[in-house]
Amino acid sequence: MQSIRLAMIGFGVVGRGFAQLLSTKHAFIREKYSVDLRLVGVANARHGLIYREEGLHLHTLLELVAAKHPLAEYPEVAHWQTAQDGLLAIDADVLVEVSPTNLRDAEPALSHMRAALSKGMHVVTANKGPGALAAGDLFALARQHGAQLRMESAVMAGTPVLSTLREGMAGASVSAIRGILNGTTNYILTAMSTGQGYAEALAQAQAKGYAERDPTADVEGYDAVAKTLILAALVFDQPLTVEQVRRQGITQITQQQVRAATDASQRIKLIASLQLHPSMNGQPATLEASVQPMALPLSDPLAQVAGAMNAITIHADTLSAVTIIGPGAGGIETAQGLLADVLACVL
Ligand SMILES: NC(=O)c1ccc[n+]([C@@H]2O[C@H](COP(=O)([O-])OP(=O)(O)OC[C@H]3O[C@@H](n4cnc5c(N)ncnc54)[C@H](OP(=O)(O)O)[C@@H]3O)[C@@H](O)[C@H]2O)c1
Repeated sequence: MQSIRLAMIGFGVVGRGFAQLLSTKHAFIREKYSVDLRLVGVANARHGLIYREEGLHLHTLLELVAAKHPLAEYPEVAHWQTAQDGLLAIDADVLVEVSPTNLRDAEPALSHMRAALSKGMHVVTANKGPGALAAGDLFALARQHGAQLRMESAVMAGTPVLSTLREGMAGASVSAIRGILNGTTNYILTAMSTGQGYAEALAQAQAKGYAERDPTADVEGYDAVAKTLILAALVFDQPLTVEQVRRQGITQITQQQVRAATDASQRIKLIASLQLHPSMNGQPATLEASVQPMALPLSDPLAQVAGAMNAITIHADTLSAVTIIGPGAGGIETAQGLLADVLACVL
């Protein structure tokens, strides 16, 4: 039996989902993989990091935060005021980084990941910032210290996109990727296709918990841009900047446009697209990236993806087109991707 110590930064929707999943799956993972996963450290912004070498009892931890008590009230733990201080002091095999995404400078996650990788800790994350803005540096740091960095959950949550591209499609040359990478906007566009206006559809998405109170990151396309940047760096080895992705959100889409598309047997979808233009006449290959609403014919598998679902179509030389459809958000769904990444690091 291999014993693996996990430290986690961020204890919100995804962090708690991961703790719940660990609790539910602990015995199954021991039996199936001979791996004993133990959460030894947890941090949030308000209370810093707590650590217990023998492992934290997951129910006690979840009950503590459900009752809105500070993490440091967990009995007999070591405690640091900040996640970063704690991370530098503790011992763990894998860091699970699930603090909020920041597309300006990727902090605080970027510093957490650098600190962990520099100690030789594997890092798994659902956070889009570091992969979007600093993938090259982070993978180089991971290699230098013999650690792994995996971010399955940063694109389409636990739906296996990055691992499919990396392991399942190893050796294939990918020429283009098109995807519905944001569930909130797909939910809104789907609601609009049933006759609702934009404002009404947005309000419904907010009431159902799909959209934030400030929906800008989703409806203006920034969240999809972040995922597009991760795909550019990881799949095409071509890191792009935010400015290099042509971006248009869905706020200008009208009910009339949606109805006209329906009448023409089309569906309007917010499509993230990466198209590789091969090198020609001595010019290097270029990667064209965009996030924008597009009217797709019903014959396109992406046109059929409704509600908060996500989907991606990968065009490759040996497989023509492969489409993956699945959930792109949710505490447990995102935690599943983190769990798969943890197991991939240690098995
Ligand atoms: N929710 C989803 O469905 C989903 C899906 C895919 C990817 N993601 C990504 O997963 C990450 C987590 O999302 P979430 O929905 O769980 O967010 P969330 O509910 O807002 O939770 C964020 C957590 O990070 C903590 N945090 C913030 N700054 C910190 C710092 N400096 N040090 C330590 N902890 C800090 C917060 O602490 P406090 O509790 O003290 O505020 C909170 O516990 C994000 O990067 C998000 O983009 C989320």
